[in-house]
Amino acid sequence: MKIIPVTDKNVMSRRAAEMISTLVREKPDAVLGLATGGTPEETYRRLADDYRNNHTTYQKIRTVNLDEYVGLSKEDPNSYHKYMENHFYKFVDIPADQHFLPDGNAVSLDQECGDYDRMIERLGGVDLQLLGIGRNGHIGFNEPGTSLNIGTHVVTLTDSTRLANARFFGSMDAVPVQAVTMGIGTIMKSKSILLLVSGKSKAEAMNRLLESKTPDPDFPASVLVSHPDVTVIADAEALFLTN
Ligand code: F6R
Repeated sequence: MKIIPVTDKNVMSRRAAEMISTLVREKPDAVLGLATGGTPEETYRRLADDYRNNHTTYQKIRTVNLDEYVGLSKEDPNSYHKYMENHFYKFVDIPADQHFLPDGNAVSLDQECGDYDRMIERLGGVDLQLLGIGRNGHIGFNEPGTSLNIGTHVVTLTDSTRLANARFFGSMDAVPVQAVTMGIGTIMKSKSILLLVSGKSKAEAMNRLLESKTPDPDFPASVLVSHPDVTVIADAEALFLTN
């Protein structure tokens, strides 16, 4: 794991956007694995700026997202489909049939999960997977206790994750109980991984990650220590416990 310590979230986002746009220029048909949530919002803003100012094209890029809530329509303002539209797709020239998220409203979620993994394989696998981390160490929506080899699957979200995401929904009760997520096995097949960690609320998780020596299902992010190409960009607040 290569750790890049930075002063704050702005610098984290700038460095992350630089890494992603460099890949997009060097490999114009790359497959990007993308994340939602508060952490990467500014990274997407900076990628949109880069597109506007430097004309970095996404015409051949394919994107696959980590996860989607079960039971929300694609048009729901809190769906990750909508998040991606509002934060990224609408600002760049990626064709609509080249960006993918799991369908949390599929008639058969089991079928959807298998199809999602097969689709990623057909695309040639993920070149760079962007990740955030939950306070409990989740990556994607792989909560503590998840098998480390599992593919895309349906999860029941923990109360701590639903509480953390209540800020988007107005109340915890409004947060869906389940989600479809790429599994840890799916994430680990990515050729490279970029984990962004920002803020005091992530300091404990960051500290535990830095102390991880081997993958531990009770702390899903620990699996990253066994991936050959992981970059972590973490700001000073997230690194506080280790200072
Ligand atoms: C998002 C995702 C989650 C988030 C994590 C951190 O697609 O899979 O693992 O990255 O919950 O969320 P934020 O960035 O909101 O703190």
